[in-house]
Amino acid sequence: MHLTVEPRVLYFGTPVVLLSTSNEDGSANLAPMSSAWWVDQSCMLGLDETSHTTKNLISTGECVLNLASSDLVGAVDRLALLTGSPVVPEHKLRKGYRYERDKFKAAGLTETASEKVRPPRVAQCPVHLEAVVDRVHPFGEDGSGLVAVEARVVRVHVEESLLIPGDRRHIDADRWDPLIMKFCEFYGNSRNVHPSRLASAWAIPGPTSANTGA
Ligand SMILES: Cc1cc2nc3c(=O)[nH]c(=O)nc-3n(C[C@H](O)[C@H](O)[C@H](O)COP(=O)(O)O)c2cc1C
Repeated sequence: MHLTVEPRVLYFGTPVVLLSTSNEDGSANLAPMSSAWWVDQSCMLGLDETSHTTKNLISTGECVLNLASSDLVGAVDRLALLTGSPVVPEHKLRKGYRYERDKFKAAGLTETASEKVRPPRVAQCPVHLEAVVDRVHPFGEDGSGLVAVEARVVRVHVEESLLIPGDRRHIDADRWDPLIMKFCEFYGNSRNVHPSRLASAWAIPGPTSANTGA
């Protein structure tokens, strides 16, 4: 039986991205976000227009999507109530957010230089997607305060141990353990539960026997 309900949030589960952007003075800002999806070589990022990240994205047109693995949950959580906005917006003050200039340090994460864009990558994240902003779309009802930022990936870096050995085109899904935000909770430790017809149709290699124990 299905009930008609009114959930407070509709966050049924998306990967956590640490979005790095450049501040006006060239220093880096870093923010967790999870309203992200990808099609082809582009992605759409759902963001609060008052966040410092959004301002940096609009003024510089560049970012890095650092995909967090589940073992980075502590670092992600340390960033949760921080903002790079020196003047903390009222709605964030009420929730206990504070300004932090150096979020890499606050999270215990390390900057590493990007190749195609100015914002740095997060060394500890196994996947880095350097991207440029193509368009910024209004999102939601009038006055929602939300935007959808459309960004195009221009360079991809993946930790070698996640790749199918000798293959730079395919990531072994069994080895990639994304941190997932489900509602407002953190989840990880993915496991393959069923063969995929889509993977067969796209001729994408399946889980390795080493990983499945087969
Ligand atoms: C796990 C997680 C996921 C989040 N997802 C989003 C999101 O998808 N969009 C968004 O605007 N804020 C999201 N936030 C909140 C931002 O991280 C928060 O607004 C932060 O202050 C932004 O930092 P900034 O002001 O320095 O850009 C998320 C926070 C956490 C901890």
